[in-house]
Amino acid sequence: MESDVAQILLSTERIQSRVREMAGEIASTYESSREGLTLVPILAGSLIFLADLMRELPLKMKIGLVHASTYRGASTTPGECEILLPPSADLAGRDVLLIDDILDSGRTLRAVTEQLRALGPASVRTAVLLRKPNRKPADLDADFVGFDVGDDFVVGYGLDYNNYYRNLPFVGVLRHELVQ
Ligand code: IMP
Ligand code: MG
Repeated sequence: MESDVAQILLSTERIQSRVREMAGEIASTYESSREGLTLVPILAGSLIFLADLMRELPLKMKIGLVHASTYRGASTTPGECEILLPPSADLAGRDVLLIDDILDSGRTLRAVTEQLRALGPASVRTAVLLRKPNRKPADLDADFVGFDVGDDFVVGYGLDYNNYYRNLPFVGVLRHELVQ
């Protein structure tokens, strides 16, 4: 599996230390919130990021799962964003932190944010592990960003290609000949 990766972009150690820093930024943003926040991770890409981030957050929190899918099968070109499950938590009046693995074309974050806002939360912010600054639209950004990366298709630490490679403990660029 690791031999399918052309280059390691972010080592396990770098990710771990940045996730810890992000948790600090997030904790100070929400420290005055008495009711705590609701993390809304977008499955499945945010799984590993979520698990590491939430254990570094010393805040009262609930979780509401969303399953969204923008990429289809073995394609790396974004399709329409399909939101497969409604949030499983009651979000009315809550401070919501949407969590995703990567901000790429922005279709996913835009679609899910819109759907969440309709549920009447007190606030909606977004946290992504990765951002592709050259690809994201100018009018959309995340509130908390782990790393900016280039335009290459990346896998690992939750990010997949055709649902594989999520369990790689680092973020790497998939060998070009494997990408359709
Ligand atoms: P967007 O809607 O184009 O911003 O893409 C967001 C979703 O597409 C993420 O939740 C990922 O699941 C997937 N995605 C986008 N870029 C990559 C990539 O480079 N590697 C793996 N998945 C990606
Ligand atoms: Mg994906």
